[in-house]
Amino acid sequence: MQNFAQYADWAYLVGAILFILTLRGLSSPTSAVMGNRYGMLGMGLAVLTTFFLAHNPNVLMIVAAMAVGAAIGIYRARTVPMTQMPETVAMMHSLVGLAAVLIALAAVFHQGMQHDTVHRFELFVGCFVGAITFTASVIAWGKLSAKLAARPLKGVWVKPVQGVLFLLMLVLGANYFVSEDVQSFLGMTVVALVFGYFWIAPIGGGDMPVVVSLLNSLSGWAAAGIGFTLNNSMLIIAGSLVGSSGAILSYIMCRAMNRSLLNVLFGGFGQSAAVADIADAGDRTHRAGSPDDAAFLMANADSVIIVPGYGMAQARAQNAVKELADALKGKGVTVRYAIHPVAGRMPGHMNVLLAEADVSYEEVFEMESINSDFAATDVVLVIGANDVVNPAAKDNPASPIYGMPILEAAKARTVLVIKRSMATGYAGLDNDLFYLDKTMMIFGDAKKVAEDMVKGVLGGGH
Ligand code: TAP
Repeated sequence: MQNFAQYADWAYLVGAILFILTLRGLSSPTSAVMGNRYGMLGMGLAVLTTFFLAHNPNVLMIVAAMAVGAAIGIYRARTVPMTQMPETVAMMHSLVGLAAVLIALAAVFHQGMQHDTVHRFELFVGCFVGAITFTASVIAWGKLSAKLAARPLKGVWVKPVQGVLFLLMLVLGANYFVSEDVQSFLGMTVVALVFGYFWIAPIGGGDMPVVVSLLNSLSGWAAAGIGFTLNNSMLIIAGSLVGSSGAILSYIMCRAMNRSLLNVLFGGFGQSAAVADIADAGDRTHRAGSPDDAAFLMANADSVIIVPGYGMAQARAQNAVKELADALKGKGVTVRYAIHPVAGRMPGHMNVLLAEADVSYEEVFEMESINSDFAATDVVLVIGANDVVNPAAKDNPASPIYGMPILEAAKARTVLVIKRSMATGYAGLDNDLFYLDKTMMIFGDAKKVAEDMVKGVLGGGH
């Protein structure tokens, strides 16, 4: 093994490059499969190298643990539906946090392991970041999977409790750092676990995707912390990559919602908005039509832009939507898809669903590249999307979403909207788009309506 050690850094370097290629590959749907392969290679290399580096590894225990982990992972990856992806990711982060805590505890309690000041600092930070990530991710998982109430924990006492717990955690950690008192280390770990709960519980279920992305970042930093503890450069690099990419993603999501990270973490969003807008929804009128009416309009158009949103995911309507697009193309209509960066409930939600339905990437456009085309488009079909096409974001300075970039569906000649009712979307706001003269609402479950539209298009002439 001694000889191997000198090559290990090279193997880790190759692994790190593979991880960077992974992130690069995952940035576009066309290269994502290749990106995943780089990731598998990099991870395989990292695991093998670490295996050879370890002094007297307990091979049986490690292989058994890996086999159990792999079996659970493969089963989960094969069975998880797309709609449950956010909570699955949250659950995985909790495991990274737990691993960081366990490794830090093992290092602290390891007889004969000397910890200098730098090392003690890494243990202290790595452990509390891991502990917070663990409980916070478990609560996020519970809220996203509806196993826990999504309702935020409220009360004037919440912030003081958060403050006291945070301070206590730091004091105990600092005491360990100065005096090497292991009881303080244990105490800090317990307080950090409790703090994780009080940090996340006041945040509403709807904001969980941003929080999950932030926890992704934290789990990366926790892994980097373990890397220092174990003196493993691969873990430090991989952890930092995850940490920084998660932080960038959280920033992008917040920017696309026109909110600051602090507002998501410490301020309520939906609550004030809902109250502000309920009043003016009552006396306005909207026009409703049938799937057949809509099919007629679309089949006789030259161009149609489809805007999918959370409702398409909820109804699992992506295959029916693809069939509708194919039927329209068969009638000579140009069909494109417009994707808003925060349509749905997680980054890339719509892209993943459309890819699953085999929609060609060339037909799918990001907001910036398609927004100027709406004005010259005959029909825009909004499927289960609401906030991301709300003109108030552009026109109404009093609206809570004022300033959020939107898809300018309102500029098309005719607007068709599929949803089940006049209910509000995620931000709790009424939508002016639904009340325009050129808008027709088609009420019903997105999948059923899209299927009926396919029949309408195929049944009617051009
Ligand atoms: P929403 O504004 O939430 O609107 C979705 C609409 O779909 C609802 O108005 C709902 O109306 C309809 N719907 C639900 N189930 C349906 C079904 N089975 N069939 C037909 N319609 C259905 O979604 P959006 O436009 O995609 O906007 C996303 C929102 O989520 C934004 O406010 C964004 O800030 C927020 N958000 C997104 C992310 C990411 S990263 N994507 C992260 C955090 C927050 P009915 O109930 O009347 O059917």
